[in-house]
Amino acid sequence: MNTIDLRSDTVSHPTPAMRKAMAEAVVGDDVFGDDPTVLELQAYAADLLGKEDALFVSSGTQGNLVACLTHCGRGDELIVGKQAHIFQYEQGGSSVLGGIVMSQVPVQPNGELKLDDIKASLRTPNEDHHPITKLICLENTQGGVGGVPITAEYTATIGEFAHAHGYKLHIDGARLFNAAAALNVEARELVKHADSVSICLSKGLIAPIGSLLVGSKDFIRQARRNRKLLGGGMRQVGILAAAGLISLKEMRLRLAEDHATAQQLADGLAEIPGITVHPIHQRTNMLYFSIPETLDAADFVAAMKAQNIILRGGPHFRAVTHYWIKPEHIQIMLNAVYEYMKQHAGEFTSAANVMTKNAY
Ligand SMILES: Cc1ncc(COP(=O)(O)O)c(C=O)c1O
Repeated sequence: MNTIDLRSDTVSHPTPAMRKAMAEAVVGDDVFGDDPTVLELQAYAADLLGKEDALFVSSGTQGNLVACLTHCGRGDELIVGKQAHIFQYEQGGSSVLGGIVMSQVPVQPNGELKLDDIKASLRTPNEDHHPITKLICLENTQGGVGGVPITAEYTATIGEFAHAHGYKLHIDGARLFNAAAALNVEARELVKHADSVSICLSKGLIAPIGSLLVGSKDFIRQARRNRKLLGGGMRQVGILAAAGLISLKEMRLRLAEDHATAQQLADGLAEIPGITVHPIHQRTNMLYFSIPETLDAADFVAAMKAQNIILRGGPHFRAVTHYWIKPEHIQIMLNAVYEYMKQHAGEFTSAANVMTKNAY
């Protein structure tokens, strides 16, 4: 990639090795269940997460939607974080297409939903006025509060609570392997108590397309029907699964590098007068920063773009690091922000004068 694109890890392109594997992939008709590369990917993912089976789906959104439709029927209710992707950024698909009520509880700065908040939102069983609670959804890492990882211990608490009451637990693990890297645990430990997990291959794991839904054999059997219902049955999709295998076998193991570049960027930006880096419970591959409200955010974005640095937002920005963002790119970005602030920000006072031009 020629650009320093920090809008999201979803912008990452496949590597040459992925492209080669895609070109050479052995394929079949996956709707008939006979694409060997998809079967290999699904078996690999299930094993990796300690579950019985897995299903290749087109996107994280589809994985979450298929999971919710499989766990819940019309008029049932799921409990989800108010800042969670499932609630905020998936067009309410579970409600729109599945007639599922979404009850939201606030996400804490550490990414957790308080057990007391979950308890408070539960419905009375056998009460004709209420929908029927069926599912609790967690997100790991939790994007809405900066991509923080949630621990195996916390997930176990929620899973045990859910199962004791007859509810299922789904984990939106779009960036589950970032959480595993940050917490230094095996991903399977983070999902031990989950009935279903969706993981994305096309974010930090940089495959071009695809996600996997993982769970029990019975769950995946039903999920497969729901995927078809949504038009998600794909044919010679081993072409994509071939890249996904590299994601799970190789890309998964290097995510700590992205966490280090995110920290490098956060540390560097924090030293530039006028820039606010928002505090975070535990960093993975994201950071939030702001430029002063008094500056023209569009001008800042354009100035960065002129140097091939692509940002989204303003005056508050989220920057996400990924495979194609190396320490030298962070350095370029820090230099660019430093220069911009020096020229434009009134706040850039004596503190800045002691910094040399090449401080970054
Ligand atoms: C936490 C989380 N879940 C689900 C998704 C949806 O993934 P997709 O864009 O593949 O539909 C995203 C996308 O960024 C995400 O951040």
